[in-house]
Amino acid sequence: MFDYITGTVRQDRDSLLRDGTPYRIRPIGVDDRHLMLACFERLSPESRRSRFFAVKPALSESDLAFLTSADGFDHLALGAIRLDARGEEVELLGAARCIRLGADSDSSELALAVADKAQGQGVGRLLLTHLTEDARARGIRRFRCEVLATNDGMRALLAGPDSRVSWLDNGTLEYDYFFPEPQDHAQTLWPYLVDPLFAARLGADAWASVQEQILDDSFSAGKTLLGFWVGRWPIGSCPLSETIAHAPRPEPELA
Ligand SMILES: CC(C)(COP(=O)(O)OP(=O)(O)OC[C@H]1O[C@@H](n2cnc3c(N)ncnc32)[C@H](O)[C@@H]1OP(=O)(O)O)[C@@H](O)C(=O)NCCC(=O)NCCS
Repeated sequence: MFDYITGTVRQDRDSLLRDGTPYRIRPIGVDDRHLMLACFERLSPESRRSRFFAVKPALSESDLAFLTSADGFDHLALGAIRLDARGEEVELLGAARCIRLGADSDSSELALAVADKAQGQGVGRLLLTHLTEDARARGIRRFRCEVLATNDGMRALLAGPDSRVSWLDNGTLEYDYFFPEPQDHAQTLWPYLVDPLFAARLGADAWASVQEQILDDSFSAGKTLLGFWVGRWPIGSCPLSETIAHAPRPEPELA
């Protein structure tokens, strides 16, 4: 996966969906036409209407060219891709994109679609979270999004204390989704690391591996991936900010 910011290949966006499906989040580019086409073909007519606001029997050549033409700055596109047991990419589960609304604007038009069979597994939330992170790094501060009033899933995704919503003349809703403050991974992660139930769910091997990585100061320099492994199988991962090295380490609760 190529990271537009650092110019390096990132590996911190592979993990598991709620149902255990391995996935990867990465930018969508010109080489992804076949993935995009297959994903569209698996969208139900209702999902197509929610995404494109029209009956959409097929993608045209110009649609496909547009959907795979992100430039990594004014037009960002991320895909959630299912992986097989060997970590090979199999199918596009969903894609999210945003397009800057004018030069130097800090606002971007958002669009998102998840294949019907993958809906309700958190893919939409994942894509929105990662796209927000990437867009923020490029000076974007909010997404604007037109949503059918009957689209409960999208309305749930865009609901938030800082979201503003208004009716448009065509009877749809327009959301202004102001980005939440970035999460401090150190603060959010430590309670999980010291939670014995979480450790029990991970299993002894994985927990030992997590502890080794905590004790290993190698993750203190720069943004590093904390991986959860059972044997040689990755079962999850979590990006750590460099602040984790300086974060207060809470004492585990003793029974
Ligand atoms: C809308 C859509 C993107 C949501 O994606 P998803 O992967 O199913 O959503 P998630 O599983 O990540 O759920 C996201 C949130 O929406 C809520 N949600 C999902 N479907 C819902 C529904 N039908 N009713 C109410 N809430 C719903 C979830 O509870 C979840 O809330 P939480 O993150 O606060 O816990 C997906 O349904 C879709 O692609 N629909 C068709 C295309 C579309 O509508 N695109 C948007 C137009 S731009």
